[in-house]
Amino acid sequence: MNWQFVYFCRFKVRKAEMENMKPMKVRELLKSKEIGKEVLVKGWVRTKRGNKQVNFIAVNDGSIIHNIQVVAEVAAFNDDLLKQITTGSCIAVKGILVESPAQGQPVEIQAKEIEIYGTADPETYPLQKKGHSLEFLREIAHLRPRTNTFGAIFRIRHAVAFAIHKYFNDHGFYYIHSPIITGSDAEGAGALFRVSILDPKDPPLKPDGSVNFAEDFFGKETKLTVSGQLEAELAALALSQVYTFAPTFRAENSNTPRHLAEFWMIEPEIAFYDNNDNMDLAEDLLKYLIQYVLDQCKDDLEFLQKMYDPELIERLKFVINTGFERRTYSEAIDILKASGQPFEYHVEWGIDLQAEHEKYLVEKYYKKPVILTDYPREIKAFYMKQNDDGKTVRAMDVLFPKIGEVIGGSQREENYEKLLSRIREMHIPEKDVWWYLETRKFGTAPHSGFGLGFERFIIFITGMSNIRDVIPFPRTPQNAEF
Ligand code: 4AD
Ligand code: MG
Repeated sequence: MNWQFVYFCRFKVRKAEMENMKPMKVRELLKSKEIGKEVLVKGWVRTKRGNKQVNFIAVNDGSIIHNIQVVAEVAAFNDDLLKQITTGSCIAVKGILVESPAQGQPVEIQAKEIEIYGTADPETYPLQKKGHSLEFLREIAHLRPRTNTFGAIFRIRHAVAFAIHKYFNDHGFYYIHSPIITGSDAEGAGALFRVSILDPKDPPLKPDGSVNFAEDFFGKETKLTVSGQLEAELAALALSQVYTFAPTFRAENSNTPRHLAEFWMIEPEIAFYDNNDNMDLAEDLLKYLIQYVLDQCKDDLEFLQKMYDPELIERLKFVINTGFERRTYSEAIDILKASGQPFEYHVEWGIDLQAEHEKYLVEKYYKKPVILTDYPREIKAFYMKQNDDGKTVRAMDVLFPKIGEVIGGSQREENYEKLLSRIREMHIPEKDVWWYLETRKFGTAPHSGFGLGFERFIIFITGMSNIRDVIPFPRTPQNAEF
């Protein structure tokens, strides 16, 4: 008898058994009442400790912040196998679910079989030790999802994204897919990334020496969109209530903890809404999303609160239970001027509010979220509805504690002549927006909408302080490694 062959066959059979069994998620296992049941779990090793008799292996599969403890009797396993199991390695474990004598975990697994999918050399695995700084983890964005912090953040991010779709679906909105590649600069800020297949070394030129984009892929100059709003408006003037949820791109050289070059925006657009309806919707949506996360992501929030922000949950509950302060921009300017604060940027009617001004209004003065309306027309986009004073537009920005502006929106100018004259005043090429103008020519309607910065909101809800830590692969100036 060839014993090696027999061993091989038995190994094969066991492997096949493991493969036939349905693995359970750690989340299900930790609340399972089926003590004595044979279970299979697959995940990554967070820690391994123990002695000559027994090893304790903490396994996490990302389904929940907590690990399941695997108990392996050293005598029952091949020596080499247990040695190869180190922090970061990936394993499958079959065993019996038993009540855990250890504190803080209801159950554990008495291992019968272990298969190693992938080892992680302790000498070189960057997450071998705990307690790395967030800055260091940004440099290993390909591995940081394996930490407790980023597991928690990404689960919360998922929950908020899901809740956004749920909210709008439940309220009769349609999800519109706005294009990523566009020919127009919706916000007029000029911070666009060009999309081109022309040879940068030898582009076709026009007689005046400028690049001839007529020969480019789309036959015109195209960019990555800064906002899906203009397209959302087209859809709202047919489907009445729509929203977008898509990546947007801004080539501003802003190296701040609140700016990304690629970020996600949610842009509802609603026919027959005025700016007050718009504010009501914004406030209701934000409160709904916070409540959803409080209900669905309790463990992750508690972890983030313990590690990063002791007031996190209290702040979230406070926002849900507070009416947002609604004031005009002009009132805010008066308050800032009278504040006696040594602001870095001088306060004068007409300025774009800076982070320090927003912070003062929200955190010191009103001590709650603030919605400012009726901003000077000169600092806002061409599409906002003009007020009768000739100076301001029907804008509304929602300012939040910790992050400042989380939402920017407005009632839209629905009058064809007024919109056209504003477009001309601002030197926006009519050939880029003729289609937008046509909606004001044919069956125009009052309408409003806003843009919620997804990552800004995730900063608020996770208690993190840098926007680079709430998106899996941040895009910022000089940074697009992963
Ligand atoms: O205020 P913004 O520029 O408004 C718009 O783009 C409108 N088209 C929205 C609309 O009315 N449909 O941007 C909206 C929000 C901001 O309030 C902010 O939360 C976020 O998007 N945002 C950014 N987030 C991360 N990085 C950046 N560079 C951001 N710029 C804006
Ligand atoms: Mg804005």
